[in-house]
Amino acid sequence: MNYVILISGRGSNMESLLDAQLPGRCAAVISNRPEAGGLATAQQRGVPTAVIDHRNFASREEFDAALAAEIDRHGADLVLLAGFMRILTDGFVRRYEGRMLNIHPSLLPLFPGIKTHAQALAAGVRLHGCTVHFVTPALDGGPIVAQAAVPVMAGDDEASLAARVLVEEHPLYARVARWFLDGRLRLVEGRVQLDGETPITGALHAPDVR
Ligand code: GAR
Repeated sequence: MNYVILISGRGSNMESLLDAQLPGRCAAVISNRPEAGGLATAQQRGVPTAVIDHRNFASREEFDAALAAEIDRHGADLVLLAGFMRILTDGFVRRYEGRMLNIHPSLLPLFPGIKTHAQALAAGVRLHGCTVHFVTPALDGGPIVAQAAVPVMAGDDEASLAARVLVEEHPLYARVARWFLDGRLRLVEGRVQLDGETPITGALHAPDVR
């Protein structure tokens, strides 16, 4: 299977996906920002890159049409949003329904949108984390595939919390992408189906009271 990765910035999730030696071919890394740091990282790994600069388009529809043309040109079976910071039109999302995944830096449905770590600190939650979900028209609201939780520690600020979550984002996203590319993961009538899930027992306590 071919997959493409969409980025807007640093691209650390993209890098971990490329390094995971997934059972498929990364056909392209596509950014909506020419200055995205992840583009150079992809090029260093020999992955084709493309820039569809949203500032060159008068409307979201025109931008999304150009983005879809680029994705389809690479014959993508799977679209992985990895720090792709654009709101997508319903038409675009429907085109890739069941074959587009996103990683979001919170335990959805808590804290959709941006500034998720600041939202978590303001809410005073003791557990925070990240979510990989299928993308649907509802912003950050698609069916959840997997989540990883981390404790919020006394003295955390946005940066320390973001760093703790990011460590968990990388393996989580690679694991889910592998499930999809292995044909074990699919969306059926709006629900996530995963073959052969391994049960995990035990809970994460924050603060740790054990
Ligand atoms: C990651 O934390 C990702 O979860 C988040 O942006 C960061 C990108 O970092 N994505 C979103 O907020 C999507 N709404 P990266 O470019 O180093 O992967």
